[in-house]
Amino acid sequence: MKKIKIGICLSLFLNLAFGQQPSVKTIDQKVDSLLSIMTIKEKIGQMNQYNGFWNVTGPTPVEGDAANKYDHLKSGLVGSMLNVRGVEEVLKVQKIAVEETRLGIPLIIGFDVIHGYKTLSPIPLAEAASWDLEAIRKSSEIAATEAAASGINWTFAPMVDISRDARWGRVMEGSGEDPYLGGKIAYARVKGFQGDDLTSPNTIAATAKHFAGYGFAEAGRDYNTVDVGTSTLYNIIFPPFQEAIKADVKTFMNSFNELNGIPATGNAFLQREVLKGDWNYKGFMVSDWGSMIEMIDHGYAKDGKHAAELALNAGSDMDMESYVYVKYIEELVAEGKLDIAKVDDAVKRILRVKFELGLFDDPYKYCDLGREKKVIGQKAHQEGVLDMAKKSIVLLKNENELLPLKKKGQKIALIGPLAADKNSPLGSWRIAGDDNTAISVLEGMQEYKKNKLTYQEGVKLSIGENDFVKEFKVNTTDRTGITEAVALAKKSDVVVMVIGEYSYQTGEARSRTSLDIPGLQEELLKEVYKVNKNVVLVLMNGRPLAITWEQENIPTIVEAWHLGTQSGNAIAQVLYGDYNPSGKLPMTFPKNVGQVPIYYNHKNTGRPTNPGDDVVFWSHYSDVSNEPLYPFGHGLSYSKFEYSNIKLSANAITENEKIRVSFTLKNTSNIEGKEVAQLYIKDLFASVTRPVRELKDFKMVTLKPNESKEVSFDITKEKLQFYTANNKWEVEPGNFKVFVGGSSKTSLEADFSVK
Ligand code: BGC
Repeated sequence: MKKIKIGICLSLFLNLAFGQQPSVKTIDQKVDSLLSIMTIKEKIGQMNQYNGFWNVTGPTPVEGDAANKYDHLKSGLVGSMLNVRGVEEVLKVQKIAVEETRLGIPLIIGFDVIHGYKTLSPIPLAEAASWDLEAIRKSSEIAATEAAASGINWTFAPMVDISRDARWGRVMEGSGEDPYLGGKIAYARVKGFQGDDLTSPNTIAATAKHFAGYGFAEAGRDYNTVDVGTSTLYNIIFPPFQEAIKADVKTFMNSFNELNGIPATGNAFLQREVLKGDWNYKGFMVSDWGSMIEMIDHGYAKDGKHAAELALNAGSDMDMESYVYVKYIEELVAEGKLDIAKVDDAVKRILRVKFELGLFDDPYKYCDLGREKKVIGQKAHQEGVLDMAKKSIVLLKNENELLPLKKKGQKIALIGPLAADKNSPLGSWRIAGDDNTAISVLEGMQEYKKNKLTYQEGVKLSIGENDFVKEFKVNTTDRTGITEAVALAKKSDVVVMVIGEYSYQTGEARSRTSLDIPGLQEELLKEVYKVNKNVVLVLMNGRPLAITWEQENIPTIVEAWHLGTQSGNAIAQVLYGDYNPSGKLPMTFPKNVGQVPIYYNHKNTGRPTNPGDDVVFWSHYSDVSNEPLYPFGHGLSYSKFEYSNIKLSANAITENEKIRVSFTLKNTSNIEGKEVAQLYIKDLFASVTRPVRELKDFKMVTLKPNESKEVSFDITKEKLQFYTANNKWEVEPGNFKVFVGGSSKTSLEADFSVK
């Protein structure tokens, strides 16, 4: 059949359909006009998203042959593609959609821009450790600018899943365990990606994912079952999603897991009742990769057709790589199993975002080859990710002032398989990034030329290929480099030891049952420590690790995560004191894996304390204490900070009044530094039990040597309310404690009540 080429005139049609001037037509009116001329097939096409032809970020579907996809593209049966990137490639598919289909509706092009596009910033968990919302916003802005210059207009980020389980590989992709910090970061990231003007060629639509509960996978095993109660769902899991909505996030992604027996993708409570109902969300919901068809394996859908019916009825608007919408929706509508109104609603949501992006005005606005060449990797972006990387580093321990290193006259041994590695620091989820493009620690430290720096690998971390798809094989047998490393350590003043996880030991499908430093690295560390006690341990990892021996023995420990392209420069600047670290942990570090899930905002239980040495019946383990290795919010600086003199403006308030809590923060050292001052609140009794303390605010305070400042926080209704037994957000009268300090373990406290 000959196609009617109305695509090019679409914009004109949309402007004239209501007989109005172009400028006075709203996006909703344009969407309605377009919808009114679409066939059911074209509507379903908008709800269908295909993967490109490389960069598979999930299992390759049986039906996923390229020829079929091209045919569908040409017949208007594709509304979006993912994993197509680079102006040339995007242009190829966009041109087909715009110039060869009947209506010429542009594609929305999705990609996992998780922590940078080509110029990589630290992994999201590391960025969260900065607690610096402005820096995080800026980092997402850089990522958006590069991705947009490369043809992409939609990122599947931020991942706002709260997680308390370091075994789960995807903790690297989130903001840690706390809903308040996670919410603030969700807001900052969405703003960074989307900017204030989505029609700008430098901004892209964001996605709040994975809705919901994905971070609570049982035993930390990816894709596993999730079973959580109402209070955890509303008070812990939902808040960062709500913050993303406040930032006007344009899309949501559902998740692979089942939640309390219903797969999230087919979960009408989550998607229709809460998201599109209670929260009145106007954007669209994309499924996760193949998550519709996976409802068969979950034991929820009987076949693909049933999966399509369940997913759309539950509120999933776009099918990523399940092929069930394109195959079955028309039939399901004809059979009366699906209401066409649900199809229309989904299509409207998708079209609205395309209009908001300005794709109908210029479908090629992200496809400027000149801009692509100029923007990717530009100097300002390198500086931006370097700044973010420095801010993400957490100084866990610094005894004997081993750090900062002296700038001259020291013999420094740099040891460890990650010290010269230019790949691992790039982290997991960097699919547009080029391998081996990070500045290594070795390169970063070589900039400081006045010291004698010598390097030994010590042991290899892996055996075989370090490949994205294949399982990563840890070296547990080859000890050949240990002797040389030990000999080098012996004749050096200081050893900087860089060990940890290879980048793809974290991320999707990279769950671990052990939280130890992998392979022979710990053995290497112990051997080196035997001959030289001046060890600065620099950890690279994507999750909390159980480094109890290290904490007990090694004087100085720096948490350097996977910091992206500028990793080595950032680490070197911190080691040499050109940057004073200020990061704070966004996730608790356990003493051992058996303590997991371990998190600071836990409940008290009915038997929280040891009643006496002769009594065993209280909530504890018999082998290890309940205390974490490092608490949430912990992080040191080369400066020393002291908190004192906590004061409240009132001791009792009504729910609409506020209390000001103030305190003195002093830098007692001779070095200027920055401290993240934290506010925690405890609600002593409530209709649903409340955590032992909850983060409710924080401030970054910079203090000159020996300077003091009066710092204050306002405690308002928003900070006191929670999702109560009435299934509402309410403030309940009662007694509260407020804590201020430099970590969740702070003991500086005061009391107040709400009448
Ligand atoms: C992940 C998503 C991601 C999608 C597309 C899935 O495997 O769970 O977070 O956005 O793939 O790459």
